[in-house]
Amino acid sequence: MSERTPHPPATPLLQVVILAAGKGTRMRSAHPKVLQPLAGRPLLAHVLATAQALQAQRRIVVVGHGAESVRSRFEGAGVDFALQSPQLGTGHAVLQAVPLLDDAAVALVLYGDVPLVQPAALAPLVDIAAGGHLALLTVHLPDPTGYGRIQRDAAGAVQRIVEHKDASTAERAINEVNTGILAAPVAALKRWLGALRCDNAQGEYYLTDIVALAIADGVAVQAVAAPDVHDTLGVNDRAQLAQLERLVQARQASALLTAGVTLADPARIDIRGEVVCGQDVFIDVGCVFEGRVELADGVRIGPYAVLRDVRVGAGSVVQPFCHLDGAAIGAQAQIGPFARLRPQATLADGVHIGNFVEVKNASMGPSSKANHLSYVGDAEVGARVNIGAGTIVANYDGANKHRTRIEDDAHTGSNSVLVAPITVGAGATIGAGSTVTRAVPAGKLTVARARAVTLEGWKRPTKKSEGS
Ligand code: UD1
Ligand code: CA
Repeated sequence: MSERTPHPPATPLLQVVILAAGKGTRMRSAHPKVLQPLAGRPLLAHVLATAQALQAQRRIVVVGHGAESVRSRFEGAGVDFALQSPQLGTGHAVLQAVPLLDDAAVALVLYGDVPLVQPAALAPLVDIAAGGHLALLTVHLPDPTGYGRIQRDAAGAVQRIVEHKDASTAERAINEVNTGILAAPVAALKRWLGALRCDNAQGEYYLTDIVALAIADGVAVQAVAAPDVHDTLGVNDRAQLAQLERLVQARQASALLTAGVTLADPARIDIRGEVVCGQDVFIDVGCVFEGRVELADGVRIGPYAVLRDVRVGAGSVVQPFCHLDGAAIGAQAQIGPFARLRPQATLADGVHIGNFVEVKNASMGPSSKANHLSYVGDAEVGARVNIGAGTIVANYDGANKHRTRIEDDAHTGSNSVLVAPITVGAGATIGAGSTVTRAVPAGKLTVARARAVTLEGWKRPTKKSEGS
């Protein structure tokens, strides 16, 4: 070969336009539809992540209804916004993004309320558009009511899309429908958008009309069947949102099973964030995971626990009904039942936290225990400390918080109150029922309670006789 054929760019310049201006009337919400949460993140966040996975050079969100709240929610997320007001249809929506689109790029149109579409399903569309064609993502539906129908000619080539409201009875019988997702070369897209008219049943500028315009332009239109119908489901009402939530949860649960996690019931777990598990982790029913949760090898999570942004070390057991938020737990620890760990609770290996114990912004050293009915806040607790039942660290004087230090091997008696700021020395023992307000010396017994007094010759009152 004497001449080198130029290689096409490995990845075309991709710009993604996400339609999110619609009202979402059927959600009956004060909030924009695309901000409704799915698996703990707004619908729009799912779509933006998909665009990111495709290495989009630009992500443009077309906003209208609730524009300000959508904008402020995604401020600083590297997203561009185009305002569509009023909303005159999907074609008009894309038109608002045109000033931000590069003629040499490929535009991929996604919907802010179709959150589950996968990068792998979209990549072929982008490739087709990079080759100068128009690509549509389609599905076959047993009941295509409401969707735009894909009309093909006798040879099977795509001719145009007919919206349900504009379709004849014969056209309504077509089961192949438009998901709304498409990819096109930007320069051509701009031309077609400029030619859109609104002489249809809804008086809108239909994006779907670019199909017939492309054909008229001599540009081939290729329909790509979505690999999984579920991925193209949109959210129009709360029932559909709930269905998608179950779908996402089922997928996340099966990913955990595949990764070797035992789930007591894959249908009874909710992950609103990310769960990263080691080997042989067991999760009982009814648990909710939020933010990022890390469970090391052999961790067991009992039923009905809520964990948000938590790390649990190897071999640790979380008993039923615990609420753990922003905590780091070491290995071989025992937590619960009914324990509450709040942000910055840092528990070393072998710590035991029992029922109705709350730990906040406090560290506990190896093998320390607080087994019953205690509050430990703003404290550093050493190793092998025993916090007796009902011990309260009084960290708050009504205006400010103060710190408490409890050194290694100290024991606090049942129902003791440690008034911060205070230090309890190593090996100190505090008698039950003591309220201590000053440093407690190491290695000694400190008791701060009224002595018991016994009155000699005292007689218990007797009940007066009736009628006297
Ligand atoms: C659209 C398609 C239809 C397809 C269906 C799939 C058109 C004309 N029709 O119909 O072929 O089968 O989606 O669900 O494109 N939006 C705006 N601005 C507007 C109008 C809509 O941003 O002016 C956004 C909406 O917020 C939504 C998306 O575009 O995210 C789709 O709008 P929707 O009204 O649901 O379109 P359909 O009539 O269902
Ligand atoms: Ca819709």
